[in-house]
Amino acid sequence: MRRRAAKFPRVGIVLGSGLGEVAIGMRDGTVIPFRRIPHFPHPTVKGHAGRLHLGHWDKLPVAILEGRVHLYEGYTPAEVVFAVRALGLAGVETLILTCAAGGIAPRATPGSLMLFSDHLNLQGSSPLGGTVDEGWGARFLDLSAAYDWRLRRIARQAAKALRLKCFEGVYAAVLGPNYETPAEIRALKRLGADAVGMSTVPEVIAARQLNMQVLAIATITNRAAGLAKEPLDHGEVLEAGKQASECLARLLDRVLRSLQATLR
Ligand code: HPA
Repeated sequence: MRRRAAKFPRVGIVLGSGLGEVAIGMRDGTVIPFRRIPHFPHPTVKGHAGRLHLGHWDKLPVAILEGRVHLYEGYTPAEVVFAVRALGLAGVETLILTCAAGGIAPRATPGSLMLFSDHLNLQGSSPLGGTVDEGWGARFLDLSAAYDWRLRRIARQAAKALRLKCFEGVYAAVLGPNYETPAEIRALKRLGADAVGMSTVPEVIAARQLNMQVLAIATITNRAAGLAKEPLDHGEVLEAGKQASECLARLLDRVLRSLQATLR
């Protein structure tokens, strides 16, 4: 991977469900399918291409993982975070993760963006379990400030300047792949969740272990189960994700330009 980029980027981005189009913002990129990279697991879910982009966003070198793999696909926690660990070990210091999520808080309406302020890991596993490598960092990892406040401030300011519907909140990670029941959503609400999804948290944990600075952004694609009249449908979630991806692309563009100024 390093051989394909003269100097490996310090900024990495993971694009979630239906958000692949955001990678259009890349210039002079090399695109490498995950299946051509040794040991990279490849996505089996619609809406996740499974490609690594190495190139520039304006003048900032970035690595983009277009698509991710999930626990519900049958991958182990270590496989789910493999690509993120690879980026971290190759030199990425700032990681921006994106995903689709169902909205629980009243302001988490379809089309809005949520910056993670914290998370609830309800997936029943951690990528730090099992085999360890001393080079990865602490096993009993502190997660009291998992989401970097400087990056959050940059993202908040960017969203404000662009007049995007954006708020900060707690993301609950569940295993899936079925959507939740209305009773589960009521329970998640009482636990303090503002949005719910099936990804991102394992990658955040692995990234923090490698001491990467993390920003995570969810595009709210639907109201969570029981909060809207219509039943949930993956196709509609992807479609809503595509529409929201334009807002996400604008936000990322502005955030990356701010990073470009600060990383020099
Ligand atoms: N629940 C879980 N994951 C999701 C949802 C949801 O409602 N929407 C998008 N990803």
